[in-house]
Amino acid sequence: MKDLVKAEFRKIFGESPEGLYFAPGRVNLIGEHTDYNGGHVFPCALTIGIAGAARKRNDRKLRFYSLNFKELGVIESSLDDLTPREDARWTNYPKGVIWAFEGRGMKLPCGLDLLIGGNIPNGSGLSSSAALEVLTGYLLRDLYGFDLTNIDLALIGQYSENNFNGMNCGIMDQFASAMGKKDSAIFLDTATLEYEYAPIRLEGKKIVVTNSLVKHSLVGSAYNDRRNSCETALKELQTVTDIKTLGDLTEEEFEKYKYAIRDEDRMRKAKHAVYENRRTIRAEKALKDEDLPLFGKLMYESHASLRDDYEVSCPEIDVLVEAAGKVPGVLGSRITGGGFGGCTVSIVEDSAIDAFKEALTKDYQEKCGKTPEFYIVEIGNGPEKLNIG
Ligand code: GLA
Repeated sequence: MKDLVKAEFRKIFGESPEGLYFAPGRVNLIGEHTDYNGGHVFPCALTIGIAGAARKRNDRKLRFYSLNFKELGVIESSLDDLTPREDARWTNYPKGVIWAFEGRGMKLPCGLDLLIGGNIPNGSGLSSSAALEVLTGYLLRDLYGFDLTNIDLALIGQYSENNFNGMNCGIMDQFASAMGKKDSAIFLDTATLEYEYAPIRLEGKKIVVTNSLVKHSLVGSAYNDRRNSCETALKELQTVTDIKTLGDLTEEEFEKYKYAIRDEDRMRKAKHAVYENRRTIRAEKALKDEDLPLFGKLMYESHASLRDDYEVSCPEIDVLVEAAGKVPGVLGSRITGGGFGGCTVSIVEDSAIDAFKEALTKDYQEKCGKTPEFYIVEIGNGPEKLNIG
């Protein structure tokens, strides 16, 4: 990908790039819809992601080209026009990051040419947008010499996604991309941004991501609805107990105080946030104790809660998780990411991988008329500057 991006940059922009960069996508092992509720998440960066080649310009133009959207050609903008536009398509992500830099007083003295190419399957819920935001932040820091940590880059990415691109996401995806570490998951407390790396030793097992290849519409609005329900439930709970976030509650405390939530649906949403956070804490401990069967059981419980209480799954994903549960040698399986389609994540014994693929393909074809895609993923590092060669 790196060589291709470099060669294509020369073709499209007529000069060699100044820098080559990479930022990873992510998969979340457990801890879903907890990151805007002050809870824990447990994602890891992947070895797949987005590579970019960039060069500063001597005017104020911004020119962007994506190898994944060649049909759109070069999309042009300017540092004097940092506003989101529908026809700017994917370039609203890098533009949003530049806008967020400028908002923090880090003005770019000149524009830039940027060419990207990626191998994160489109719309799969493996965070290509967060990877693009982190990639942009990383290359701006390098090319223009700004003094920022990788956690700053994650926060800027999230800020731009919330305020420039209108998706009210939490910090998980950008944090996972910016702070990834090879063969480790990141146990992150989203209330404080304290984090710990948890080495993933899967001896004889693999993390398999299964792509349902469906993405239901209204993802953004349903996501924001869930956020609003949790915020309202929190306010109701705060009338009877002194908490800052839903992540402050144990299951027992939630059961004691839940009467304050005046709506059954909202109560189930808040229940998911509280229970999922506790599950994530237990899952990290299970991993430390090398108790993968328990880790897998918690994954199934997470899925059931996302399906029944939080209601962010969909029939296609449920078929995949249910089929996984019937294959001997599958330790756990659940939906991963924002929901309403996208991917499942499963832990599968090496010897069971073929049977896993066969069983899921068969059930998915029969019940949903589609063939899923499988990726045996590897856990990779955060963003990096690549040797330009
Ligand atoms: C999306 C958001 C994240 C997180 C997940 C659900 O991926 O971008 O911030 O809320 O959904 O866990």
